[in-house]
Amino acid sequence: MSAPQREHWSRGLGFTLAAVGSAVGLGNMWRFSYMTAENGGAAFVLLYVLMTLLLGLPVMLAELTVGRGAGKSPILALGHYGGRKWRPLGGLFVLTGFAILSYYSVIAGWTLRYTVSGVLGGFPEPSNAKALFGQIASGWDAAAWHLGFMVICTFVVARGVRAGIERASLLLMPVLGVLLLGLAVYAAVLPGSGAGYAYYFSGDLRGALDFDAVKDAAAQAFFSLSLGMGAILTYASYLSRQSDLPLEGARVAVSDFGVALVAGLVVFPLIFALGLQHAVEGGERTTLGALFITLPTAFNKLGAAGAVIGVIFMLALSVAALTSAISLLEVVTASLVDVWNWRRAPAAWLCGGAIALVGVPSALNPEVLDAMDSVGGKFLLVLGGGLLAVFVGWVMKHPAAEAAGLRPRPALGVWVWLLRIVVPLILAVLAFYPGGLASESFRKLAALFTG
Ligand code: PHE
Repeated sequence: MSAPQREHWSRGLGFTLAAVGSAVGLGNMWRFSYMTAENGGAAFVLLYVLMTLLLGLPVMLAELTVGRGAGKSPILALGHYGGRKWRPLGGLFVLTGFAILSYYSVIAGWTLRYTVSGVLGGFPEPSNAKALFGQIASGWDAAAWHLGFMVICTFVVARGVRAGIERASLLLMPVLGVLLLGLAVYAAVLPGSGAGYAYYFSGDLRGALDFDAVKDAAAQAFFSLSLGMGAILTYASYLSRQSDLPLEGARVAVSDFGVALVAGLVVFPLIFALGLQHAVEGGERTTLGALFITLPTAFNKLGAAGAVIGVIFMLALSVAALTSAISLLEVVTASLVDVWNWRRAPAAWLCGGAIALVGVPSALNPEVLDAMDSVGGKFLLVLGGGLLAVFVGWVMKHPAAEAAGLRPRPALGVWVWLLRIVVPLILAVLAFYPGGLASESFRKLAALFTG
């Protein structure tokens, strides 16, 4: 009996859309703007670009190569090339996806909630914006919206890669792009927005020497590109032999970076034009909400048109979050399907349900959310990305040939050496150096238990 044919993306843009859908999400808007605010503006943007090029692109190509070559979800794919002893790295990916989705869905719930309250009652006055965010972002209300979002996400994953994931991406990604550009133009013509551009582009660049900023920038590069937990690997496993991996990787990275850049062009000019500097200068608790405090205020100022734009924007953001969340759940689900031969639908509902439960504390308390983000969204991604680099660089037999596929590319020799030495070394320092991501995660977790 032959194995059932593995599902593949439809010809053309199927993979690109889904991978861009995974990469573009709350990371580009919510997390990018708050990380930039927390790390002093322009210096962080510069570091983020550097980290994307030096660490992000090589690991992206590593995931694409392993995924396409093995044609399997992470646990089996790593076993395929490295034998059984490498399977636990796939297990780490699954755990990371689980951890990230548990709080990612909470933030996605906030965007759903802003969408619905925008429809019902418009957007808040500047003086109320912070208080409203406080209400939306914690407590049982937040938990209910989180659960609602998880139900939608699980529903799509249960239906399968082609039917669910491709179609959802195709429709709403372009809407989001158009709205973002429109908002960037609006922000540009508001009086007082100049200070925002200055903050974003020409702030004090000495901040780029700060270790904290470097580790956040590296983690942000991984998070935003969906790297370090097998999401891109899993999507690449549905790719055919003909696809050009370096080109696919570059497409995803360029789109992802473009969206983050434009999101910053919306958020920072708005913050300064609307006099909301306190949203970025008020310490960690409020920077976490930078996006959710500034944008609704801007929608309020725009009057009746603003309410409409705001609702469409929040809806598009919810969909961007959905296509990312789908890729997180897909990693967890595909493992049950591939390794233990579960059927897709029950596997998706079991995983989705468990993740929804684990996310409840993050919904009730933003401190938990922040700690989960440090553990899953920073430390585990950087750890997973570093180990995958070692795997492809040292364990796989002919990575450059596998990455090249049908088109030989001499430059891939450089890529292999980046994966062997440069990427693991930098990531190890960022993760384990005193004050690095491991100790940040530990400190935040410990603070939760000691109050
Ligand atoms: N890249 C997604 C975003 O920017 C988040 C994500 C991280 C998705 C890791 C999958 C894996 O929102």
